[in-house]
Amino acid sequence: MQVIGVDIGFGFTKATDGKQFRVFKSIYGEAVDFQYQESLLDHDEQHEHLQIDIDGNAYFIGELAERQSTNRQFTLEQNQFVASASRVLALAALSCFARERQQTMHLVVGLPIGHYRQYKAELAGMLRDTHDMVVTNAAGERREVRIAVTDVRVIPQPIGSVMDRLLDAQGRPAERRFATEKIGIIDVGFKTTDYTISDKTRYSERGSMTTENGISKAFSAIASKLKENCGINVELYRLFEPVETGSIKIRGRGYDLKKITQHAFQQLAQNIAADANRIWADDWDIDMIMITGGGGAVLAAYLQPLLEGVIVPMEQDLDYRLHNVRGYYKYGCYVWPSARSLPAASVEE
Ligand SMILES: Nc1ncnc2c1ncn2[C@@H]1O[C@H](COP(=O)(O)OP(=O)(O)OP(=O)(O)O)[C@@H](O)[C@H]1O
Ligand SMILES: [Mg+2]
Repeated sequence: MQVIGVDIGFGFTKATDGKQFRVFKSIYGEAVDFQYQESLLDHDEQHEHLQIDIDGNAYFIGELAERQSTNRQFTLEQNQFVASASRVLALAALSCFARERQQTMHLVVGLPIGHYRQYKAELAGMLRDTHDMVVTNAAGERREVRIAVTDVRVIPQPIGSVMDRLLDAQGRPAERRFATEKIGIIDVGFKTTDYTISDKTRYSERGSMTTENGISKAFSAIASKLKENCGINVELYRLFEPVETGSIKIRGRGYDLKKITQHAFQQLAQNIAADANRIWADDWDIDMIMITGGGGAVLAAYLQPLLEGVIVPMEQDLDYRLHNVRGYYKYGCYVWPSARSLPAASVEE
């Protein structure tokens, strides 16, 4: 039996078996036959080619869908999200860890705060099943796989980051203060920002909220400035790298993004901090605040001075996008201790 953590975000789907991480964009579309291999040079195709057939439908997932599918699903409306997208994305994630023809998995998945109560049972019920699929690799080789998901736990997404700090690699409580204290968590994602409170590991509904203040807000501001300057609509999901490096080349001409980025991030951080200070106004007994999520990495420096409270620095050993999912995996080892004696004992990260 394998424990797998899967975190399906609006921007990226993240998954781990405790040894390896897989991250792909939360986009899928219909699979198409290649006329010829698109890449002329060898590179690590295995990691980019994610293709599965489920229920007779063939899907490209992640970057492959972004490049090749004509009909792509990626603006995930929440009601459709649980019904269709989360199943395809979760099964695609599981397929990455399916080494045998048949295997049993226990699964920990997260739901955004705003949908936790409403969709928890539905999501668990949908995933707790035997899933038959065909996995196709970059060379076009097809492999039938049967994954029996025999147990599913659903937790509010940002709580993953608390579990990650509280539990060790085998899922045993290690840093106890994360179990005994009251922690506010701000999880900045691509589309949303989630706020929640873990009060002695109990999830508090009152201190929880989801807003649309994800990184894509800042990216929209940057994109509209670019549109003004050069007339091109740059898709938001193509901005990550230019924002990171501080410049973008459009039709051969370079544009400096540093100033506009700084301004957009400052503005977004102000809104996020104002929301936190407001919803936690009565929770003045919070011991510490954690900033997590991929957007948390980008905004931490802007957010810290604006928040009222003690900020716990995130561990720098891992991409911020992965803290939640590593916590899900550890939580799985905690609730299903029999998984601990398996290779989890030699977890490498
Ligand atoms: N190496 C990276 N590659 C891409 N994006 C990164 C990276 N590191 C940080 N980011 C930032 O992470 C953000 C996505 O974070 P994350 O994966 O936590 O979001 P999500 O969970 O998919 O979204 P949501 O919480 O809204 O559902 C991106 O918008 C980007 O700004
Ligand atoms: Mg997220």
